Formats: sequence, C-alpha cells, structure tokens
Amino acid sequence: MLAADKVVVTTLVENYVDMLIPDTHNVKRPGLAYHFDPRNMKIKAENGLSILVDVYFGARRYRILLDAGLTDDVILHNMKALGISPDEIDHLVISHGHPDHYGGLPGLLKARDYPLVVTLHPDAFLTRHVKSGSGMVIPYYNQSFRRDELEAIGARFVFAKDPVPVCPAVTTTGEIPLDVSFEPPGPAAGTPSSLWCIREGHFEEDPTLDDIALIINLKDKGLIVITGCAHAGVINTIRQAQKVTGIDRLYALFGGFHLGFPGIPAEKGISTINELKILDPSYVSPMHCSGFATLAAVQREMPKAFLLNTAGCEITL
Ligand SMILES: [Fe+2]
Ligand SMILES: [Fe+2]
Repeated sequence: MLAADKVVVTTLVENYVDMLIPDTHNVKRPGLAYHFDPRNMKIKAENGLSILVDVYFGARRYRILLDAGLTDDVILHNMKALGISPDEIDHLVISHGHPDHYGGLPGLLKARDYPLVVTLHPDAFLTRHVKSGSGMVIPYYNQSFRRDELEAIGARFVFAKDPVPVCPAVTTTGEIPLDVSFEPPGPAAGTPSSLWCIREGHFEEDPTLDDIALIINLKDKGLIVITGCAHAGVINTIRQAQKVTGIDRLYALFGGFHLGFPGIPAEKGISTINELKILDPSYVSPMHCSGFATLAAVQREMPKAFLLNTAGCEITL
C-alpha cells in the first residue's frame, strides 16, 4: 500500500466547539481571537460528525470527506468559515446510514457544481427504527436518506461491502468482522437492543453492518484510522484496518467510539482503553458518540496521546 507524505485532518462537524484550547505545533483551531473578531464566521457544533482528510503526495492533494454531519446548515456554514469549497471534495465516504452522519449530504450536493462520488455499504439504506428500553419507538428515523432524491441532485453512489481504495494510501475498512470478545455483535450484555431494521420484509435487530471506517497509511508513521460511530467497536475497527493494509502500527485514531450510548457498560470503555494502551498510538481523539466519560478516561489514561478534537480543529500529521 502506498504511503502519504502528509495528512491534514480537519473536523468540519462535531458535538463540541471550544475557542479556549491553545494551538500546538501541529494542531490549529479557530480560537478566542478568531471568534471575537466580528468579521469572522463563528464555528458551529452539532450532534453529528464530518471529518475532512487531505492526503498529500508531494504537491498533489486529495480531499476525502468522511460523513456529512446532521444538518445542511452546520456543515456548509463551517466549510465556509474554514475556507473550504464544496466542489473541492474529491470523494465522500458515508460511515453508515444514520442521520447524524448523512444529514448534511443534500446541502453539500446542492452547493456543488459537480456530482460527488459517495462510497458506502449497501445496508446504509436499510429502513431503520429506534426502540428504547422504556418502550419509546422512533420509526423510520432514516427516512430522509433517499437514494433516488440524492442521485437526482448529484450523488454517485458506490456500494461496497469489501474494502475499497478511495485514493492512493487511503482505503475503507469494508464490513468489519466482530471478533473482539468485548465488542460482540448485538446490544451490550444485559441491555435490550435499541436499533432495529427492516431487512427483506422482516423486522429484526439491526447489527449496523454498514458501519465502515477510513484508513490512511502515513509514510514512516503507520495507520491513521478514522471512525464514524464505530458501531462495530473501535478495537474491531483497528484490527480490520491492520488486516486490510498488512500494517500493524496504529499512529492515530479519530472519530466516534460509540461508548456514550445509554446502557453501554463502563467495563466496555475500560477494555477499549486497555487495548488502546497496548497499541500505543501517538494521537487518540474520542469524538461525537464516545461520551464525556470516555473523553475523560482517555485523557487520564493516555495523557500524551489524548487530543480534544472539536469542530474547526485542523491537525497536520
Ligand atoms: Fe453517530
Ligand atoms: Fe450511528
């Protein structure tokens, strides 16, 4: 697998924004001076995820986007604030078919003059329900994810269960095997399943098999793994990244860890962090659905690697 010379990761949409965190040698943020200047657009946060990955080979740059946030407004607003044109995106990967990851796609497509290739797992379009333990049901919560409507405004969908290259040095994980003992299929032990889907006419528990992640190979450093929600589990996702690329060294991990969802036992978070400590990456950013307790635990247990990755954050690797 080819290796990139340089990778710049820019967070376009995230649950948090913070203007008080100082810059470092390789992390730039719109800070207090930026936000207090009335001429500047302020960075917005929302409960969604969108991460731009700029991959460099010498002077050639590929702009790959993972996910599109929850709403049109926030992704387009933050792109404008950060000086990124929608037409500069070369390729979009949708990590899975949940609204907080595809919700900004219609706005992104309409803001472009050109069609956009969108890679995703075919199950991303399954009809979905949430059924909570208290009996509350949110039916058809992904009804806004309409293939025909999105194709009519410029989406060019590529359906792939297997890992597929997105540009040199970047591939998707493809469907992720659930081999790690504390990241099994189905709901967490002792909790009722909340995710349901309609598959071939049957109403059944939704294993969210469409959950895929992005893998980048960075020269002399190792793998950068970027997850959406990590429904398949962060460690399962890293194992798959290692298998797909044949590269063991994990250099950086960004994205949702799916540990903040109600009912997920604290032990799962502890096991995840124990495994991450063995992998010893240089950067770890639990984001989005990771939950505040996970952010705090990673900061405590892996203080050198922990990076609070908020909306507008630009990391050069
Ligand atoms: Fe999510
Ligand atoms: Fe999700």
